[in-house]
Amino acid sequence: MKVILLLIIYFRSRVMALNYHLFPKNFIFGTATAAYQVEGAWNEDGKGESIWDRVLHEYPDWVVDKTNGEIACDSYHKYKEDVQLLKSLGIHFYRFSISWSRILPTGKADQINQAGINYYNNLINELLNNGIQPYVTMFHWDLPQALQDEGGWVERKIVNYFVDYAKVLFDHFGDRVKSWLTFNEVLQFCEGGYSLGEFAPFVQKPGVGGYLCGHHVLLAHGATYRLYENYYKEKQNGKIGIAVDCAWYEPDNPNWDKDQKISEITMQMTCGWFLNPIIFGNYPEIMIEMVRQNSLAKSRLPEFTPNEQKLLGGAVDFIGLNHYSTFKVYPATKKLYNQPSLFSDIGGILYHDASWPETAFFYFKIVPWGIRKVLVWIKNHYNNPPVLITENGFGDDGRLDDYDRADYFRQYLYEILKAIQEDSCNVTGYTAWSLMDTFEWMSGYMVRFGLYHVDFNDTERPRNRKLSSYVYSDIITTRRISWDYYPKWPPS
Ligand code: NOJ
Repeated sequence: MKVILLLIIYFRSRVMALNYHLFPKNFIFGTATAAYQVEGAWNEDGKGESIWDRVLHEYPDWVVDKTNGEIACDSYHKYKEDVQLLKSLGIHFYRFSISWSRILPTGKADQINQAGINYYNNLINELLNNGIQPYVTMFHWDLPQALQDEGGWVERKIVNYFVDYAKVLFDHFGDRVKSWLTFNEVLQFCEGGYSLGEFAPFVQKPGVGGYLCGHHVLLAHGATYRLYENYYKEKQNGKIGIAVDCAWYEPDNPNWDKDQKISEITMQMTCGWFLNPIIFGNYPEIMIEMVRQNSLAKSRLPEFTPNEQKLLGGAVDFIGLNHYSTFKVYPATKKLYNQPSLFSDIGGILYHDASWPETAFFYFKIVPWGIRKVLVWIKNHYNNPPVLITENGFGDDGRLDDYDRADYFRQYLYEILKAIQEDSCNVTGYTAWSLMDTFEWMSGYMVRFGLYHVDFNDTERPRNRKLSSYVYSDIITTRRISWDYYPKWPPS
């Protein structure tokens, strides 16, 4: 009798221990791409020019290998094949972005390009017919050039243009698309594109353009959320989020107050720059303070009116989190920057710990525990909102036997699992960046993030499954991380 009891206790604890390492039942897995990075067909079937088409034609040397996204993965023609790749992975959803200028060639809603509507209708239908949910990003950096000619994101009128565009998307696709992300990584395209001039549209307005751009993006996000809430939600019943890029900024010395303080300021002024307004209605207090202190007469950070604060507060159903890496940070003792910028306003110095493993992308080191810290930070600051990881991934040279990528996914997913189970973070799903090798912006085709390899020297752009994709599929089907699982390689 005693033996039986002991056996029961043993097996129960085994089952519990095993379940402990299971992703929750409703946790979803997906993968992602973005229009300019995969579609190609840059000027086909009535598509208008985007800012990325323009800058990379004008300044080809800015990209490491002097390439661009004219053809990219040719997904515009190969979308059916792409859906089969997705199906083989066994993923639940596919996050892709819509090219604004494919739908509205001039950026404005008075001229709709039916061929563009047809393309996305076909893609969405193909996904649904294969049991894959579409997760749609409305804006992944490829602004119609015609709108840039009017000033782009630093002009207030862009807010209305975006809302008109969003309305076209809800009208045409909202019957089938239930998960929307308004914007992708606002910090990157605003600071890079309008302050530093390192990203399309290469505008340099140091310390000013990025904040103006961010301000208009936030207003466009808020107005789009309310449009959906008031006119579509009841019928279409979808959810609206935004994909924010939050790295983790670890205090250089966690025991020192000043390092802890600068870590918090950096989190607030990067991640909180966008999350605070859409959750609480305004920029983080500390951000308002820091930019004011570093400005001359008037703060370079624009202000929201009381009505705008009302529009923004609570304007989100779920947070999309893009996370790749971690930095260490300590306070700058003297002025390091010769012109204003987000990071000079923050006043911190960032560096990578020499012991952190590298990736092919110098900016991203492998620091899996960083994602857990970001998740806990979001939980603590914003009342544990639902968070979908909208991007996480590993860049390399494109090898098929990508053991390092497989391990990266496992290690980051393990930290996510701990955040769910030990810290009670409300994480609803995970998106591996990227479905396949894509045009990696200023790194061209030199840095590859794909679960599938793409041969960009072959006009057919053949796709080939990488080893990591099998490991990812295994995690999806078993809902657990098997540390010693590797597929037979090379596959026969
Ligand atoms: C974030 C961006 O959203 C995506 O476009 C890019 O390819 C990845 N990071 C990797 O750098």
